[in-house]
Amino acid sequence: MIINNVIRGFSKLTEEEKRNFIAGLCIDPAQAEDRLEHFLVADENERTQFLELSENTISSFHTPYGIAPNLRVNGKVYHVPLAIEESSVVAAVSHSARFWAEHGGFTVTGLSTVKLGHVYFRWFGNPSYIREHWRQLKLFLLERLKKITTNMVGRGGGILSLELQDETLMIDNLFKIELKVETVNSMGANFVNTCLEDMAEALDMFFNLDNGQEGRKLQVAMAILSNYTPECTVTIEASCEIDDLKPISGWLPVEVFTDKLRLAYQIAHHDPYRAVTHNKGIMNGVDAVLMATGNDSRAAEAAAHAFAARDGQYRALSHCSVNGNRLSIGLTIPIALGTVGGITNLHPLARLSLEILGNPTAKELMGVVASVGLASNFAAVRSLVTTGIQKGHMRLHLSNILNMLNVTNGQREEAELYFNNRTVSFNAVKHFLHEITH
Ligand code: MEV
Repeated sequence: MIINNVIRGFSKLTEEEKRNFIAGLCIDPAQAEDRLEHFLVADENERTQFLELSENTISSFHTPYGIAPNLRVNGKVYHVPLAIEESSVVAAVSHSARFWAEHGGFTVTGLSTVKLGHVYFRWFGNPSYIREHWRQLKLFLLERLKKITTNMVGRGGGILSLELQDETLMIDNLFKIELKVETVNSMGANFVNTCLEDMAEALDMFFNLDNGQEGRKLQVAMAILSNYTPECTVTIEASCEIDDLKPISGWLPVEVFTDKLRLAYQIAHHDPYRAVTHNKGIMNGVDAVLMATGNDSRAAEAAAHAFAARDGQYRALSHCSVNGNRLSIGLTIPIALGTVGGITNLHPLARLSLEILGNPTAKELMGVVASVGLASNFAAVRSLVTTGIQKGHMRLHLSNILNMLNVTNGQREEAELYFNNRTVSFNAVKHFLHEITH
């Protein structure tokens, strides 16, 4: 089983055998039995589903799943499920969502849903041959694709365009075919990749029509969707009277608070060091909804950061402006997601999340996800320009430490009072508890 420190045949073991094998190898034998219990998935259906979803599965990993109520988007109120382990994010989104709900909520002002992918190939013959044959090749590819696209067309989607792009200035002999599609309510990754791989195969066939003479000049490099989706974006905005900000401006006069907010967004626009953290605050919210609804947060992260650098410098994705006595915030972000297909319908909690959101269309969910991102971002920036973020974090940090130490309700109350204005650390809390119990 282990030869030269390499495990062989692991995937062939049963789930239980895999667990025991890893425990025998990596966990202190004295504790193994107790600790292995953490791996057990109580619900049998869930266990079977997880085994089918991924490979070498030995358990499921639990993450806190909370609700941010009162997110108003285009006049409709959502209570949004968020799957995230980071303390403060759900509280921050909830406060911010409520604040904006009381001032008109978020409005979707732009939305596009074009997904794309490419077949990259090298052409070692005369480049003009490819260009001259493109019209004919395109018709051939489109005709073949019909067998794959029929159902998608029936659902209102399908192929939007197919273009040949000459990349030879970048890499010798390189061309790419760009496919743009509409995938309606599905994220569409499988659909796009199936179309692209079919096109790659068809390219070979097309150039082999003349007995392979031209075919030998062709080499397909790869066929893959692009997670950079600058034409699958959602734009949202929210605005309020500057006076409305009074309840959330802390001890700062509201004009100073507004000015500091605007400055914070300006800094994030100009300074990549701040922009990355600023955008991380947006993605805290975005990823949490994507996770809860069974969507691909890695794809959204990759697209968001590429989009943030689209003009050559990495910048904040969101902005803030003041016009007269009104403050506005806004965000444009690429989000490729689905509300059908993939694990959105397989994962029991993902299904429930969509139900809690009223079974939205993909477009509707894009608006919700972006609004959660902006709500989370606004809450973070508000904290940064007033109390700083540690105060909120510390309250939750204290609660986590108290949970870990199994304190009584009375001890918890005393600790919360004592640490209201003091720095929280594990040792400080332990010391305090020792003092009050001895
Ligand atoms: C922490 O997860 C996110 C923040 O750092 C975002 C920000 O700085 O805007 C608070």
